[in-house]
Amino acid sequence: MSILSDSEEALLARARAIGAEFVCEPESVAKGVREYLRLMDKGLSEPGQAMTMIPTYVTAVPNGTEKGVYLAVDLGGTNFRVCSIDLHGDSKFTLTQAKTPIPKELMTGNSKDLFSFLAKQVAYFIEKHHSQTIDAATPTNFLKLGFTFSFPVDQVALNKGHLLRWTKGFDIPDAVGKDVCELLQKEIDALGLPVRVVALVNDTVGTLMARSYASPGKSGTLLGAIFGTGTNGAYVEKLSRIPKLKKMSEESGTKFDHSSGVMVINTEWGAFDNAMKVLPDTPYDRALDKNSVNPGMQMFEKRVSGMFLGEILRNAIVALMDHGLFKSAHGTSIDENGPLFTAWSIDTSALSTIQADYTSEYTLTKQLLEQQLGVSAATTGDAMAIKTLVYGIGKRSARLSAIPIAATALATGAYENYKKAKADAVPGQEVEKIDIGVDGSVVEYYPGFERYLREALRDIQPLVPGAAGLEDAIRIGIAKDGSGVGAALIALVA
Ligand code: BGC
Repeated sequence: MSILSDSEEALLARARAIGAEFVCEPESVAKGVREYLRLMDKGLSEPGQAMTMIPTYVTAVPNGTEKGVYLAVDLGGTNFRVCSIDLHGDSKFTLTQAKTPIPKELMTGNSKDLFSFLAKQVAYFIEKHHSQTIDAATPTNFLKLGFTFSFPVDQVALNKGHLLRWTKGFDIPDAVGKDVCELLQKEIDALGLPVRVVALVNDTVGTLMARSYASPGKSGTLLGAIFGTGTNGAYVEKLSRIPKLKKMSEESGTKFDHSSGVMVINTEWGAFDNAMKVLPDTPYDRALDKNSVNPGMQMFEKRVSGMFLGEILRNAIVALMDHGLFKSAHGTSIDENGPLFTAWSIDTSALSTIQADYTSEYTLTKQLLEQQLGVSAATTGDAMAIKTLVYGIGKRSARLSAIPIAATALATGAYENYKKAKADAVPGQEVEKIDIGVDGSVVEYYPGFERYLREALRDIQPLVPGAAGLEDAIRIGIAKDGSGVGAALIALVA
């Protein structure tokens, strides 16, 4: 006998129906991989594509023997971090860091206010941790700073790049087209700090470098990926597979070292399939897009990353309120001016908490509803219905995340090489897996994220040519604080 009332059963049935709209079937993931492979080639051939495939001019990944002290700053989607990194040369490092949330009003104001705020945080940090450097400052004695800037930039040199567009809710029109290193250096100089911005790095490139420095294997990491506020990946590509590079580097006059035969490419996969040929779409996704600062852009990111999952959930909850959610006779009440009625007010961490709630009465979910979402006295049926939505949204995000990972391993030949090495190995010899470094709140804290992602990798094995056995060949490791350490590693090269 069910312990739920008839009305609760009806509510749950409705929640399951909404949850089913988020199901991402194997064929849908496989279609995604095929389309990703197509857009990858297009982006490597022609400049100006939505999935931009940006050449970074980084032509080598570290091997763990690098040494020195460097400064790094990281403007992500939510926080600004300043750190100094002491690389010890044995795959280890010490990191000192300070983190500040970026004030919301600076995300949509003007560039001067944002960059002078950033420069001030650098000043506080070096006053606190590197005061001797300031005292000893001479025209030749300055700290080298790597700038991790987690937005799409047309990189023309290691320390020069023009902002292409904002993402993740930022909208500061006067900065678009400007060199973001120069914007930061100007404000640093205005404060008289002995600091030079020597490298501009996307967070994914930093993650790739950091993972490659620290990863267990002897060979380098193939891909660095962020699944956090936003999502994106950077990987090691053969120069011969980047037809647009010759023209682009001639136009910008950028020289680079060809000897390794490879270059790190910042894919900007958040913009994968903006045309919506293969990505799943629901009324809740459409409502989110319509309400965003960049409708029609970052369509993959809007289905995968942390900034958006909470808002998809909010839209689905609102839809479920027409079908009995929070309508029990037990005096459930909703704050009509509260988070459920305010766009962008549900944090992804809420989804992680609900997903991880295995208490029999859904106590954690009820608490969260009460404390963060303005719903008091929700019933167990309400909480179960909400968990059903969360499950659908979170699992879809993880399964979609398998698309760029599979496509990158296939397109670069990394998986072919792995298979060859395996065939050539003597019995008992271990073959090194394809290494992938990841960072970001979603991959780190969303329960089951890697498991669902791996399930999707297995699902596509029979559906995508050359993918049989792929999942087993992939090693995924967290590159904690990757963007800071990675920026330091690139500053070192600079
Ligand atoms: C940005 C990328 C960044 C990613 C992860 C996206 O919105 O376009 O440049 O790497 O977020 O932070």
